[in-house]
Amino acid sequence: MERTFLAVKPDGVQRGLVGEIIRRFEAKGFTLVGLKMLRVSRELAEEHYGVHRERPFFAGLVEFITSGPVVAMVWQGEGVVASARKLIGATNPLQAEPGTIRGDLGISIGRNLIHGSDAPETAQQEISLWFQPAELASWDPCLGPWLVE
Ligand code: RTP
Ligand code: MG
Repeated sequence: MERTFLAVKPDGVQRGLVGEIIRRFEAKGFTLVGLKMLRVSRELAEEHYGVHRERPFFAGLVEFITSGPVVAMVWQGEGVVASARKLIGATNPLQAEPGTIRGDLGISIGRNLIHGSDAPETAQQEISLWFQPAELASWDPCLGPWLVE
């Protein structure tokens, strides 16, 4: 079953939006299989955002993501990678559609609340970067047949 990596960024934690954000993925019908709060090391932040290493915003992004605790999560479900990106909305919250997390809750690209893996391959890399296999729980929600035909 497909899995994705999501992280509530330090702004989402500080603003008390962890529950609101988790609620949206639960309500959609996806399954939470990994969850932890941590203070991100510079090393992990630089590895996670390594693809942006040469971009002008990289230093500020690493500074921000290490500035306070984040809530790291793994979610599971059919099509969860692309669907989570839709639920999250466009990178710039001012351009994100209403109804999305960034569109409803944010206003600044540097304070856009949540990270979501951008493809299934990236998701696998990010899950193994952030979680040990033993930190992930495989379970079958009893709602399964009511969610998927
Ligand atoms: P994320 O990786 O955090 O889920 O965000 P994303 O895919 O929507 O956007 P991405 O292009 O991967 O950029 C990563 C994060 O870098 C910050 N950013 N700042 N100032 C800027 O022009 C700029 N561009 C990107 C954002 O916080 C973005 O989430
Ligand atoms: Mg990205």
